[in-house]
Amino acid sequence: MEYTIDPQRFWHDPYPDLAVMQALASVVYVPQLDAALITRRADVFVQEKRVDIFSSRQPEGLMTRLMGENMMRQDGPAHQAERKQIFPSLSPRTVMQVWRLEFERATQAVIDGLQDKQEFDLVRDFAMPVSGAALVAITGLRQMTPAQMDQVSQAMIDGCANYRGDPSVERACHVATAQIDAHIASMLQEVTVNPDMSVLSVLRQGGQPLANIQANIKLVISGGQNEPRDAIAGTAAAVLMHPDARAYLGQSGAWGQAFMEYVRWMSPIGMSPRQISGDCTVLGYDFKQNDRVFFMFGAANRDSSVFEVPDMYDLNRDTGPAIPFGAGPHFCAGAAASRVLIAEVALPKLFAGFPDLELTEAVRWGGWAFRGPLSVQVRRGG
Ligand code: HEM
Repeated sequence: MEYTIDPQRFWHDPYPDLAVMQALASVVYVPQLDAALITRRADVFVQEKRVDIFSSRQPEGLMTRLMGENMMRQDGPAHQAERKQIFPSLSPRTVMQVWRLEFERATQAVIDGLQDKQEFDLVRDFAMPVSGAALVAITGLRQMTPAQMDQVSQAMIDGCANYRGDPSVERACHVATAQIDAHIASMLQEVTVNPDMSVLSVLRQGGQPLANIQANIKLVISGGQNEPRDAIAGTAAAVLMHPDARAYLGQSGAWGQAFMEYVRWMSPIGMSPRQISGDCTVLGYDFKQNDRVFFMFGAANRDSSVFEVPDMYDLNRDTGPAIPFGAGPHFCAGAAASRVLIAEVALPKLFAGFPDLELTEAVRWGGWAFRGPLSVQVRRGG
């Protein structure tokens, strides 16, 4: 089964096309992406675990070529070994005992800096610096500013999606990765002498070779900046767009639900790519070795056979079946950090600091592989 998309339209809003693909078949080939898309929630949930068929290894892929071979591009024992090495830095315990305090400090500083402003953009002026500061702490690259973190993250994301081979995009990505390598080099001695719980320090203590440390830190930066940024600003926007949500948010655990329903509704990572390891037929589709497959989390999270009125942001729904962090061995390593940063620190502090926030214009969203609000313009009411 083949389905044609208009890439521009798909970027602005992929959901109508994804709903059509979901109704058509379990696997749909999209020529514009040169990939077979798996969009139904039940299929993504089951097939993503079959790493013998749907391999993460893509040695010729853009991510590997531009950022080095990180854990996201490995299978089986090689993947598990690196995942185990990074775990102490991102475990729920470390998040609560070490990072939470850093998140609180960083968020408070950003809120203090906004006190004299009547109007601001929640993406650029709040979510970006909060997410960037959190990542500076977690990676251990303490000489970087939050704005630099955002910039190098974006350059790598653009580089990895540069399927048309635009040389200026590739150049910008090389500049970003070189900057990260320079920051790693300048901090290596410090974390060797004074180890801490940062990713850099923990991977160093775990004996990971420098090239792998560099590749995995680039993965953490490309995966750990835009998503929390987009989820912080996006959840705030969703709440502001739904006046009923304000009353609901007084309840305990409500920000956790607001966040989880946001990442179901507007999944910050819409897909994860895989490569077929050998000719086979799965879900009625004849795959050839090296075919490109996308597990479409964004589509799965709006599967109408699982979620009622899936296009609606609904704080009362059961978000349990949603898979915004993946559903296989590559399940987001930063999920605990994200929940604490976004649902326990950034959003409660933002709405406590500015209880009368209101939107000043309609929110526009963009992207399908990575998706979020382009800006969220607000003013302080009253
Ligand atoms: C709202 C925020 C976030 C969302 C929605 C998100 C989502 C995802 C998704 C969908 C994957 C791929 C899963 C798969 O292929 O099965 C992933 C992987 C990953 N994420 Fe996140 N992520 C978020 C934040 C973060 C943060 C803050 C960090 C680090 C500080 C992080 C680090 C990683 C890493 C290292 C992987 C690769 C794991 C592996 O290969 O085993 N993520 N994330």
